[in-house]
Amino acid sequence: MAGKISPSMMCADFRRLEQTVEAFERAGVEYLHIDIMDGRFVPNFTLGPDFVRTLREMTDIPIDLHLMVERPEDHLHLFPVGPGDIVSVHQEASVHLQRTLQQIRALGARPCVALNPATPIYTIDDILDDLDVVLVMTVNPGFAGQKLVPATLRKIANMKRHLVDMGYAGVEIEVDGNISNENAVKMLAAGADIFVAGTSSIFKKDADLLELTERFRASISD
Ligand code: DX5
Ligand code: ZN
Repeated sequence: MAGKISPSMMCADFRRLEQTVEAFERAGVEYLHIDIMDGRFVPNFTLGPDFVRTLREMTDIPIDLHLMVERPEDHLHLFPVGPGDIVSVHQEASVHLQRTLQQIRALGARPCVALNPATPIYTIDDILDDLDVVLVMTVNPGFAGQKLVPATLRKIANMKRHLVDMGYAGVEIEVDGNISNENAVKMLAAGADIFVAGTSSIFKKDADLLELTERFRASISD
């Protein structure tokens, strides 16, 4: 199965936001990945609700909101998300995770749980009914431009097998962190469905964004 692309907007050149969105519309990317960091759950700050609102006004491409924040349930109401959008919260960040996923469902969005490299797959076993997507972090979240944690390749394959065994083959697997064209090929083979494209693949200085996005698309096509 061919993969879906979710460009990581924190890697974009904000001076050229309009051209960036145009390129993604032409390339037909399936989502726009927006990283929200609170300086506590992860040691960095990035984008916020105003940026999501701006993108909403610029394009109909669905939003893929990645909340790297403590107590995401307290902040969901700030984001203009709805049907067709993905909202990811971290397993490690929400004590009443099942309720948080229901809150996301109530917004009409697709609930997703993100797992840090150290978080075992089984921690989502009892909430599979509440999930549309699971996000397997392939680096420790917080910064662009990091190197893949090698064991996460095996984790993607294990996740795929586990979802099928548990009767949840319909839950999509998203991957985020150092998704180079080369790594993407291996992740597609392991069972990944949605690929976050950042500095490792499409956002390169002085390169053609549309061309690199099309090249990335080719690497996750059958
Ligand atoms: C964190 C981010 C990063 C990054 C992805 O959640 O999504 O993983 O922007 O792009 P790379 O790793 O290729 O710079
Ligand atoms: Zn992310």
